[in-house]
Amino acid sequence: MISFKGYDDIIERIYRFNQEHVFQYWDRLNDGEKIELLEELSKIDLQMIKDIFSQKTYSIDGEFSPAPYISLPKNENEKNLFKKAEQIGIKHIKEGKLAAFLVAGGQGSRLGFNGPKGKFPIGPVSGKTLFHFHAEKIRASEKKYNVSIPFLIMTSRDNHEETSIFFKEQKYFGLNPDNVNLFPQNMIPSLDRDGKLILSGFNSIFMNPDGHGGSLTALKTSGVLDKLKELKIDTLSYFQVDNPLVKIIDPVFVGFHIMNTADISSKTLQKSYPEEKTGVFVKFAGHTIGIVEYSDMPKDKSGNTSYSAANPAIHLFNIQFISKLTDSGRVKLPYHTAKKKIVGLVDGKQKELDGYKFEQFVFDALPLTEKNVILEILRGEEFAPVKNASGQDSPDSAKELMTALNRKLLESKGITIPDKVKEIEISPLIDIAKNIIIPNTEKVLIS
Ligand code: UTP
Repeated sequence: MISFKGYDDIIERIYRFNQEHVFQYWDRLNDGEKIELLEELSKIDLQMIKDIFSQKTYSIDGEFSPAPYISLPKNENEKNLFKKAEQIGIKHIKEGKLAAFLVAGGQGSRLGFNGPKGKFPIGPVSGKTLFHFHAEKIRASEKKYNVSIPFLIMTSRDNHEETSIFFKEQKYFGLNPDNVNLFPQNMIPSLDRDGKLILSGFNSIFMNPDGHGGSLTALKTSGVLDKLKELKIDTLSYFQVDNPLVKIIDPVFVGFHIMNTADISSKTLQKSYPEEKTGVFVKFAGHTIGIVEYSDMPKDKSGNTSYSAANPAIHLFNIQFISKLTDSGRVKLPYHTAKKKIVGLVDGKQKELDGYKFEQFVFDALPLTEKNVILEILRGEEFAPVKNASGQDSPDSAKELMTALNRKLLESKGITIPDKVKEIEISPLIDIAKNIIIPNTEKVLIS
């Protein structure tokens, strides 16, 4: 067994868990490099990694049925209830109890964009980035409700610096920098097919971000949760970086959340077609709510039209609930396993190997709630995912959806749109007045 002053406990643990291959380049390392490796290893919970590896396949426990949700309002009574929710939501927002929480630690591998996904240019006319749209929506809400709204952005170890630099360079898109808080999520080692840690260099371990479910733990470990409590924030509006149509501050949603004293509230939208490969909201036998991913759905239920409530990953979290979950440190959500090609160090050279990547999903916190609300929204009004480089859920489809929504908005105000117009972008900072004239050009930017 190797030895190093002050680190022998860690070394002993590595041997005990049969991971001593991580020391195979030990003799090539200087003391500083050895300490770096040992420090990194000291942060890995080997027992947890072993447990995850031995479970590997995540499976749904027990029976479930479709989850109940609040549908879009159809009659006067329902419309009145939505108005009441809106009033309650507005009051809550104006009291400064809400913060926006963006998860942006993903690797965006399907999109194949080099750099943080939030830097992707999505404005159909301006080419403005996803981050820019999100920040301007928050600015617009701050102005509308005359309140300051903290903007929390979870990054990952890999994209934190680039994201921070981008926000600085862009002068925080006009937001007060003191209200913008970027913090990296935690990382978890990937494993090879035999459950062994993978070296990414002579003295470093291959890790991946621990999934969007890691965001709850990261709020705690970064100290952000304590800051939010000091600011008397009680609700987090959680959203993903890749949805340019998301309504970040939505008083109706906030109102229903408050009226129901919910731990988590979630938005839902109808699947486009029964076999769509998306997660759906379900109610488990013990009356808890959850989401079952398409891949985990039993075959006999996968095309069942009753399971139509899809998950656009838009939630409100009660801060007390997050505090309770994170009391003992790491939130105990299950880990989902994905088989991946990983580039690691093998026989002194970078080589592609088969491995496993583990992630927590934020919606696995739903079954831990005592009270929750699921609210139906219209797909075309709030959801334009940018996942793939082309085709479905791509930048092109998202831009089309953005234009379609802007067209609908202008038409609802009685504004005429000339025939030539193909793409329309409206800055989130603009309140559309009735009297604007749209030029007869292919691209229209209202900013
Ligand atoms: P996705 O599940 O779409 O993953 O993330 P991704 O990493 O962005 O993209 P692919 O799968 O590699 O193509 C949904 C949201 O969750 C965030 C992403 O940044 C995105 O906003 N996320 C995902 C994290 O913040 N951390 C993670 O570890 C994973």
